[in-house]
Formats: sequence, structure tokens, C-alpha cells
Amino acid sequence: MQIKKVGVVGCGLMGSGIAQVCAEAGYEVLVREVAQDLLDKGLKRIGGFLQKGVEKGKLTAERKAEVLGRLKGTTKVEDLGGCDLVIEVVTENLAVKRELFQALDGVCGQDTIYASNTSSLSVTEMAATTARPTRFVGLHFFNPVPLMKLVEVVRSPLTDPAVFEAAYAFGRSLGKVPVKATDKTGFIVNRLLVPYLLDAVRALENGVGSVPDIDEGMKLGCGYPMGPFTLLDFVGLDTTYFIANILFEEFRETRFAPPPLLKRMVLAGHLGKKSGRGFYTY
Ligand SMILES: NC(=O)c1ccc[n+]([C@@H]2O[C@H](COP(=O)([O-])OP(=O)(O)OC[C@H]3O[C@@H](n4cnc5c(N)ncnc54)[C@H](O)[C@@H]3O)[C@@H](O)[C@H]2O)c1
Repeated sequence: MQIKKVGVVGCGLMGSGIAQVCAEAGYEVLVREVAQDLLDKGLKRIGGFLQKGVEKGKLTAERKAEVLGRLKGTTKVEDLGGCDLVIEVVTENLAVKRELFQALDGVCGQDTIYASNTSSLSVTEMAATTARPTRFVGLHFFNPVPLMKLVEVVRSPLTDPAVFEAAYAFGRSLGKVPVKATDKTGFIVNRLLVPYLLDAVRALENGVGSVPDIDEGMKLGCGYPMGPFTLLDFVGLDTTYFIANILFEEFRETRFAPPPLLKRMVLAGHLGKKSGRGFYTY
């Protein structure tokens, strides 16, 4: 099960990072977006990240050019036909992801492995609707992908053990530390992290403290690298809101219920760093 060519579908916050680390690890990468301007924006983000590395002396201009040389973009699903592995990194919405996998079924060979970077949707549910449920895994990366060492490798009850091992080895080949998880909503990290972030919003709603004071409290009191509101802005309030809803729907526990303030900020378009405004202004 040799992986040489990797398709990355979605070149947003996560997709661009995943495409970058795959190209850095030597894979030939084809990244697909729905529109040319979104593709250009995503590829520019990758170029910018690598350029910063050059300026800081972390990589040479030749290495940057070599990595970018392995990276191609497209807006056409059909172009993903020759990929050995396709990593789906589109919006956290089951209908959108399903539609994509159905389109991929029409163009990818039977041996192609599908992976989803979903944070909270069921890998089993997605796998079952494809023509290759045994060749489907979760590969859950963390933001920012080039810097975060972890990848959760998720198996569904349908996953072929050899496909799971290939995905695990792929994660390692990217220089990441893979951990094995089963398909339980939220996997390991979000199951524990999301209730904490939602509790921070509830603490703010209840007047426990201000945004910067709660952030400072958790940073200096717990030794966390950043406070919950900084992290929420970084992850994206819309993404966190989608995840919370999915976790709540699955477990029906109040700790997963998105607080009204989070919902209103999303409705107002205050999505965090990516929209220029969230709990902080950028
Ligand atoms: N933001 C995080 O910290 C984080 C961390 C881990 C996992 N994830 C997961 O990664 C996925 C993407 O999240 P994101 O933060 O990158 O979101 P994002 O909104 O930054 O990017 C999603 C991109 O997918 C594109 N897209 C939508 N439908 C598409 C299609 N059919 N084909 C190609 N592109 C399509 C959109 O145009 C958009 O650019 C979600 O499933 C999310 O849960 C996010």
C-alpha cells in the first residue's frame, strides 16, 4: 500500500497546513478548492508560511522552491483521480463531506484510501456512504498543522486493519506523532477540550471575569500556552460551534451544548482570527 500522491480537498485553515506538511515530507500533492480565489488564497498562505521560515533561517530558498514544486492546485474534483490517498479537509458539515466523497467515488481508483480531517463527525457514517468503507480512516490534524506534532488516527468498525496501519505510518512519515483512536465523537482531544472552551464562554456570560482576565487566569494558573478565548479565536468560532452541536447531538450532555453567546457571535460573523474579529480584534 504505497502512498506517493496525496490529494487534499479544501485549502482553508487546515487544508493548507496539511497540504504543506505532505509536500514537505516529499509527497506529490494536489489540493482542490471550490473556487480559484479560495485556492489562490490557500496556496498563498503556504507560500507565506515557508517564506517566513526562509527569513528566520529555518529553511533555504531552494528548499522552499522544492516544497512548492511538489504542490499543485485545482478546482476540479476529476483531477484527484490519480491520488493514492485523499484527505478531506472541507467545512465541518456532513452533507458537504458526503457530497464530496460521492464525487470522489466517481473519479478515484478502488485502491485509493480516503481520510477525513473531521473534528467531530462520525467516520463510520461517512465511510458507510462511500463505495470503499473499508478504506476509510480519520486523520485528525491540529492547528497550525506545520507546528503541531499530533495527529489522531481514527478507525471505524469498518476500517481494514492494513489501511489503518498504512494511515498510521503515513502520519509518522509526516514527522507527526500519531495516536490511535476509535470513532467516538470528538475522538480524544476534542472530547476533553471542547467542553473546557464552552465553559470559558459560559464563565464570561456569567460575569466571572473579562476575556483577558480569564485568558490570563488559565495561562498563568494552569500553565496553558494560551487562554481559552485566544484559542477559540484561533480555531474559529464557527468551527467550534459546529463541533459543539455535533457533540451535543451525540451525547445529549449539557457540557457540550454551545452557549448562546457563541451562537450569536457566529451569526454576527465574528468568527475569530480568520474574520478579523472574535473575542479579540485582529
Ligand atoms: N480549525 C481547526 O482548528 C481544525 C482543527 C482540526 C480539524 N478541523 C477540521 O478541518 C476541517 C476544515 O476546517 P478549517 O478550519 O480548515 O475550515 P475553513 O473554513 O478554514 O476551510 C474549509 C475550506 O473547505 C472549502 N470547501 C468546502 N467545500 C469544498 C469542496 N467540496 N471541495 C473543496 N473545498 C471545499 C471551503 O471553500 C474552505 O476554504 C473541518 O472538518 C474541521 O472540523 C479544524
